[in-house]
Amino acid sequence: MYTLILAQAVLALALIVFLIWPLYAYLADPLRLRRFPSASIAGFTDLWAVWQQHRHNRTLAVHAAHLRLGPAVRVGTDHVSFSSLQAIRDIYGHGTPMTKAAFYDAFASTHFNISDAREKATHQTKRRRWANPLAQKSVVQLETALRPHLERLITVVDAKAGAELDMSRTVMHLMYDFISTIFYARDLNFLGRDTTVGPAETPSGVKYETDLYDAMIKSSHMSSCMSWLPNFHSLFQYFTQLDARWSKSDRLRDFTLAMVRHRLSLDTARIRAGLPPLDDLFTPMLWDAKTGSPLCLELGELVTESANMVNAAGENTEIATSNIIYHIAANPPVLAKLRAELDGAFDWRQTPIPDYACIKDLPYLRACIDESLRLRPAVDCGLPRVVPEGGMMVDGTWLAGGTVVSVSTHTVHRDEGVFGDSPEKYRPERWLTDEAKGMQRGFLAFSQGGRACIGRNIAYFEMSLVVAVVFSRYELGLPGGGWVLGVEEHFSSHTRALPVGVARRK
Ligand code: HEM
Repeated sequence: MYTLILAQAVLALALIVFLIWPLYAYLADPLRLRRFPSASIAGFTDLWAVWQQHRHNRTLAVHAAHLRLGPAVRVGTDHVSFSSLQAIRDIYGHGTPMTKAAFYDAFASTHFNISDAREKATHQTKRRRWANPLAQKSVVQLETALRPHLERLITVVDAKAGAELDMSRTVMHLMYDFISTIFYARDLNFLGRDTTVGPAETPSGVKYETDLYDAMIKSSHMSSCMSWLPNFHSLFQYFTQLDARWSKSDRLRDFTLAMVRHRLSLDTARIRAGLPPLDDLFTPMLWDAKTGSPLCLELGELVTESANMVNAAGENTEIATSNIIYHIAANPPVLAKLRAELDGAFDWRQTPIPDYACIKDLPYLRACIDESLRLRPAVDCGLPRVVPEGGMMVDGTWLAGGTVVSVSTHTVHRDEGVFGDSPEKYRPERWLTDEAKGMQRGFLAFSQGGRACIGRNIAYFEMSLVVAVVFSRYELGLPGGGWVLGVEEHFSSHTRALPVGVARRK
């Protein structure tokens, strides 16, 4: 009897939440969004976005809607996606009054970090801390830290000569080894061990081992699905406590906690021994750069801030580098041109790992990287922002305050008017024409404006060195028959396996 009443109550609640309320909201249309064509039922229910995200297909679905319905498309109950240069300026440009949308709350933990802080003042305080350590001039200091990892890469790939290697996995191991060295002063040796299993520690101090990549990818799937239902974040988090995929985020936290505690213990030991604290990329979270006094951030903030940095840095650079390697390996004329440029810059037989100074300004290498970031950006989805109270014009259209807006990166990156002919083709040469400056205005691989990627200098540094080392030393054979590298979209668009036959270059 009670079960029946409970079932009826749940059903009635579900009807109200998922049918009656959305129908009322759709008809009442407080943000006046019915004037925009809608991608399928997206204007009526946000479950459309959740479903597409769950299928790893949301970005392509939004892109298809743009091709069918035009440059402004409704992709959620309160969300309009744009695809023009003007919209990029309005939404992301320097000085825009837009802030990040509630979408980002699905990724937040006990404290906000630089990426999910939505409030401008909080974000600026955090961003200022990282500005100097991640600036171009600081990249030079990282070269000594990257070198041993590149040496290890060579050892691992050399050992595979004549055999097959998953290049995506190899690059992922390399990037996480490097990032944990420069953030936590701890080399995890994922590359040498061929695994992403690393240390973890619960808040109460129980130590165990966890698979970092597995934890990251599964919690990222749950968060990116839920992010499109911002009003239901807490409810879903509550109900999914029992779901192993959601609980993976605890494993991610425990991994970071182990790394943070390790890093803090190094400073404590040094200070006790009368030595100055370490100077690495963790330092901006511990010490005020100007006064040298301790910042005394809470442990929760150190954990979320560093987890975010390590993810933003490791994940996106790993994805981007795998895509670049794939594109170059799949295009022999591009590879020939790139090799000619690299061979002119350093003698790979004498010096398998060049100095960054030798390669950082090579135009064709940079064009190969940017062209890959255009076609397969690590973050391919439109990044949601919210129109401030009082409303504003976006791409020539007035939008009410509270409207969520984004620009479809995937669509703009394929705009012939911006990037020239055959936008689906991998053609680095397009970046070497007079039009390249204009193309930068439509280039969203690192986003634009005050919330753009703060680590892009490090990213170019890592990508350039890995690509230079790999293609100067090896022949990489992709599977035949027009094989295409697979993608699995979460917040970032992860690459699937990249199996290559490896041979040493003659
Ligand atoms: C090729 C590699 C990379 C790509 C494609 C990339 C891409 C991006 C994009 C698209 C954003 C904007 C995200 C948003 O608005 O939600 C972003 C933000 C960010 N990235 Fe990167 N990133 C890369 C590497 C790095 C590295 C190496 C670091 C750190 C060392 C880093 C740290 C960050 C941080 C902290 C933010 C948030 C900035 C803010 O909100 O102020 N990224 N990145």
